[in-house]
Amino acid sequence: AQLASHASAWDGPAEDLPKAIRACTRCPLHCHATQAVPGDGPTDAALMVVGEQPGDMEDLSGRPFVGPAGQMFDGIAATAGLNREAAYVTNAVKHFKFKPRGKRRIHQRPETSEIEHCRWWLHAEIAKVRPSLILAMGATAAQSLTGNGARLLSRRGSIETGPEGRPVLITLHPSYLLRAPDQARRERAKAQFRQDLVMAAELIA
Ligand code: URA
Repeated sequence: AQLASHASAWDGPAEDLPKAIRACTRCPLHCHATQAVPGDGPTDAALMVVGEQPGDMEDLSGRPFVGPAGQMFDGIAATAGLNREAAYVTNAVKHFKFKPRGKRRIHQRPETSEIEHCRWWLHAEIAKVRPSLILAMGATAAQSLTGNGARLLSRRGSIETGPEGRPVLITLHPSYLLRAPDQARRERAKAQFRQDLVMAAELIA
């Protein structure tokens, strides 16, 4: 019953959740990824941080946000008064989706159906952690958590309603801070991201 795709919620014991996520075959993404990456952090965290999906380094290590996007997040969080170690950090999609190009694996954006299959696990994590605030980083997390797929730049810095009626603070994805097309946009994105993290820190204080 745990993996039946039409059941409304995962009903196993909370401590078995990471193991169940690692065993997931609910969508085809598990075929090529090294492993699923469950959330990480205290299970009584006030803040849950949600990204898109594991990247190359997360896929290899099995832990969320350990690569370049994670370093960007950690660096700005530290200056915003937000302690990453106190947060539960996870992703909307638990497997890395990529296209091989030579020796490299190029990130591919997850499809709506993949986001929807994996929402089952995100909801189970939310039910386990019961965070008082969820930080949605990027469009995939925002879509999964709020059902709203509208453009992110006009929504960031605002609070929307997520699963179980929990508040979801919308912000940019830290990769965007690295990849925005020009220096001016990268700098502006960093300032906006930092402002959102300050707001998150104040909301959970
Ligand atoms: N980007 C994400 O969205 N999540 C990670 O875990 C790493 C990079």
